[in-house]
Amino acid sequence: MITDKTTLKEVFSNNNNFDELYPDDIRSLSRLHWTSIEIAKRAGRFLAATPGAKILDIGSGVGKFCLSAGYHHPDCNFYGVEQRGSLVGIANQVQQQLSVANVTFIHANFTQLDYSAFDHFYYYNSFYENLIDESLYIDNHIDHSESLYYYYTDYLYGVLKQRPQGTRLVTYQSSYERIPAAYRLVESDVDMLFNCWIKYR
Ligand SMILES: C[S@@+](CC[C@H](N)C(=O)[O-])C[C@H]1O[C@@H](n2cnc3c(N)ncnc32)[C@H](O)[C@@H]1O
Repeated sequence: MITDKTTLKEVFSNNNNFDELYPDDIRSLSRLHWTSIEIAKRAGRFLAATPGAKILDIGSGVGKFCLSAGYHHPDCNFYGVEQRGSLVGIANQVQQQLSVANVTFIHANFTQLDYSAFDHFYYYNSFYENLIDESLYIDNHIDHSESLYYYYTDYLYGVLKQRPQGTRLVTYQSSYERIPAAYRLVESDVDMLFNCWIKYR
């Protein structure tokens, strides 16, 4: 239970402490499927560029990026869209426990959103689950297929292409070829797995 500021600070500075907030089965998926607290903090710092910015995590899982970034940047608003209702439920529970007010989780397919409502984006290779071995799936409650992978990455490419100049994007463990050419790479780390982009035209 989070009861005082010191404990809260410890939770947001250590990935294992943060993962302790989740049920065992969710925690066991962490290494493969959820952003670490360290990466979430770095991504948040880049995306929270101006007060009031609205930042969307495309495929927010159990909310680690949004909750961490929301805690560190209370002057911005973070949104997570997630297709699995069970994960949205868990993200909401942990949000309540942490009392982070500037985060909203949306249960939907990312193709259903109006992107004019958001300024900047975080993307942790959310559709890759369609290409991996079944034994590594988060669960079997949704359809997986190679064609879905290409449909979603093409859709996201189209969304990013439409966004205005100045849009910021952080990609983690994602392929460069699915990012429109109008995005300039401005920072790269973790063997080029962590990448920060700004749309320049
Ligand atoms: C690699 S996990 C990343 C979770 C979270 N962004 C994080 O960094 O901790 C990808 C998530 O995207 C979700 N996802 C995949 N396709 C989606 C879609 N079409 N619409 C909404 N969510 C999707 C999956 O259910 C999964 O929870």
